[in-house]
Amino acid sequence: MKPQVLSKMGRRTTEPPISWLMHAALSRPKLISLAAGFTDNTALPVAEARTALNQVLRSPKTGQPALQYGITAGDLALRKLTAAHLRKLDFQAVVSSSFSSSSLVLELKSRTRTRTKDEDEKIYSPERLLITSGSQQLLYLTAEALCNEGDSVLVEDPTYFVFLGILQSRGLRARAVRLERDGLDLAHLERVLQSLKRSGELRRVKLFYLVSYFQNPTGVTTSFGKKCGLLKLLKKFERAAGHPIYLLEDAAYRGLRFAGNDVPSALAVPGAAERVIYAGTFSKPFATGVRVGYGILPKPLFTAMKHIKGNHDFGTSNLLQHLVARALASGIYGRHVARLQKRYAQKARVMKLAIKKHFPSAVEWWEPEGGLYFWARLPRGLATGMKSKVFSTALKNDVLYVPGELCYADDPARRKPNHEMRISFGSASEKDIREGIKRLGNVLRKLLK
Ligand SMILES: Cc1ncc(COP(=O)(O)O)c(C=O)c1O
Repeated sequence: MKPQVLSKMGRRTTEPPISWLMHAALSRPKLISLAAGFTDNTALPVAEARTALNQVLRSPKTGQPALQYGITAGDLALRKLTAAHLRKLDFQAVVSSSFSSSSLVLELKSRTRTRTKDEDEKIYSPERLLITSGSQQLLYLTAEALCNEGDSVLVEDPTYFVFLGILQSRGLRARAVRLERDGLDLAHLERVLQSLKRSGELRRVKLFYLVSYFQNPTGVTTSFGKKCGLLKLLKKFERAAGHPIYLLEDAAYRGLRFAGNDVPSALAVPGAAERVIYAGTFSKPFATGVRVGYGILPKPLFTAMKHIKGNHDFGTSNLLQHLVARALASGIYGRHVARLQKRYAQKARVMKLAIKKHFPSAVEWWEPEGGLYFWARLPRGLATGMKSKVFSTALKNDVLYVPGELCYADDPARRKPNHEMRISFGSASEKDIREGIKRLGNVLRKLLK
């Protein structure tokens, strides 16, 4: 037998399908990519980052600590600023929210409003906030700290395909829970949990992964009522599982809201914070190249993940952390996010008008209130995958989208839907959005005849 050099993980880990899409976008200059999850190049805060960096490097007193190694958990000033920022976001979201008037939610809302300063300080504490190299590292660390090979993770159906890559690479299984326009289908979640309990697999479920704001890929935002229901259900099944079942709330796009009211995070659900892992990032709302993310973690997880991060990199780039801290403290960050929201509102409007004008009426599409993505569903039978006629014809016409099937986990309980697409208004110019949607619309019209 040939000796194996690579570890099991080294052999198992496949190239992410998105690599091919990225390569196609970069190697064909005429191609209009509505596939990339990149943010808008022209909106990147070059002058603002220069100002913040100048402030950091103004004197040896401020510059030297930034150019030195830091500590594994992250710069304390940034952790304090981030915790305060998140606490304020959640407080404002609870106070100004217009969420569902069900009695459960109203009760939770009043309990959240009256939560004491002490309780809040415990939840949004810099002591349980870990700075990571992008929120991607937080997602990876969570899987590493909680899951063994062969364990199962509950995910939305569809979900962020890079997270599916983590599961594949680490030998984890996924169980998918249906998604509705306002978030998870809770009745389906209960059925999935029941079936896992019956089969004995619940003992191997530690985690639900939820992309809660303007989800990648569908643009769906999970309502606060559904977050409450989700946490309640997970709690209900803990006894059968024999251990806590955590909610990993990935809020990567939260800052990019351009319509409607902010929704409180799962940390704001009274009594639930010990089961919530909140993953946030400064990538999307500030600069994707900076890649500073963070997690608010239950204390036992904070300790374990900090130790594991110590082995990964013993700390995220200190200079970049100082840059973000300056941007937050000086107001540069807040002003930039406000500008960005207007920019994406405009681009989303352009995409919506183009879709209305060019897509055949048989195509159903979902409009987001923020983030970077529209989601379109073709009539069943018209596949959109990389080997499909739709995809190859679109490519021939120099327009690219993300095939929906890449975002569905391998779950034996259902067949993967293959007739959807993610279309992004993030990186393309307004002119390219109009032209790209027109080309895509022409392809769909032709193939739907
Ligand atoms: C849903 C989701 N989560 C997390 C990330 C990772 O972002 P970052 O590591 O830059 O914070 C992305 C990036 O596209 C994403 O779409």
